[in-house]
Amino acid sequence: MSIRPIFVVAGVGNASGTGAAAARLFSKAGYRVALIARDQKSLQTLASKLSEDGGEAHPFAIPSYAPQDVRGAFTAIRKQWPKEQGNDIRVALWNTAAAVWKPFLEITDEEVKEGLEVNVAAAFAFSREVIKEFKSNELNELGKRGTLLFTGATAGIRGNVTTSAFAAGKFGERALSQSLAKEFGKDNIHVAHAIIDGPILTDRQRSRHDTEWQNDQNVRLDPESIAKAYVYLANQDRSAFTWELDLRPAHVKW
Ligand SMILES: NC(=O)c1ccc[n+]([C@@H]2O[C@H](COP(=O)([O-])OP(=O)(O)OC[C@H]3O[C@@H](n4cnc5c(N)ncnc54)[C@H](OP(=O)(O)O)[C@@H]3O)[C@@H](O)[C@H]2O)c1
Repeated sequence: MSIRPIFVVAGVGNASGTGAAAARLFSKAGYRVALIARDQKSLQTLASKLSEDGGEAHPFAIPSYAPQDVRGAFTAIRKQWPKEQGNDIRVALWNTAAAVWKPFLEITDEEVKEGLEVNVAAAFAFSREVIKEFKSNELNELGKRGTLLFTGATAGIRGNVTTSAFAAGKFGERALSQSLAKEFGKDNIHVAHAIIDGPILTDRQRSRHDTEWQNDQNVRLDPESIAKAYVYLANQDRSAFTWELDLRPAHVKW
């Protein structure tokens, strides 16, 4: 029996958003799932649910997104599923983001620092571990060693009146993804960035909007629909790699 490839996702929150939806869909698609985030309880609950549904998932809680903690998660993944036993990490998703929405003059030094540390420095640390893993993989049936995905945002391509700090981080994340796509394409490593151009139906967004908005699929993105696009990207073969795609609900103004 062949060993299931591993899908690693960083950023799962309370499991109501894109990170958890991607975990569910990759699990259904036959991947083992490594869940990286800060809340052990929420990770354990999601991992148990995925396992009950016939998948195999494991929580890798980290105290913070500091580079050493992100690296520590990969050490723990390797302890759980050793490379020598044929366990390959084949898809990874950087989904974490620290968002500050404030007028420029109200943003503190700490918020700028946190935004850059989480959205840029931690994304670098995650990508480094993933690229090292992919480089040790053989080519798979799609002619690639692995797929590294980034959840981006409108703020990754456009600054706005309250997004100076957030956009600086998301632009940085997008720049990182493009640089990696170019540097590692020759190694048959696929790197893709998804611009999520609209609000995602997470618990946080639910608490801000009325039921009419929540039920209207024309105005907000479903996390499952984003996850479907991620599975599509992971299934692309080496003759047609997307670096960037954008996703938005039908009625959103752009
Ligand atoms: N929600 C939206 O409307 C929307 C719209 C466009 C783009 N996006 C993008 O979608 C991704 C998030 O997906 P999601 O909104 O569906 O939610 P999600 O899957 O629940 O993920 C949110 C993640 O962000 C992390 N996070 C939040 N605040 C943080 C902070 N201050 N420091 C460190 N980590 C923090 C949480 O980490 P823990 O798991 O460790 O708690 C959580 O994993 C982000 O890249 C975001 O830019 C979201």
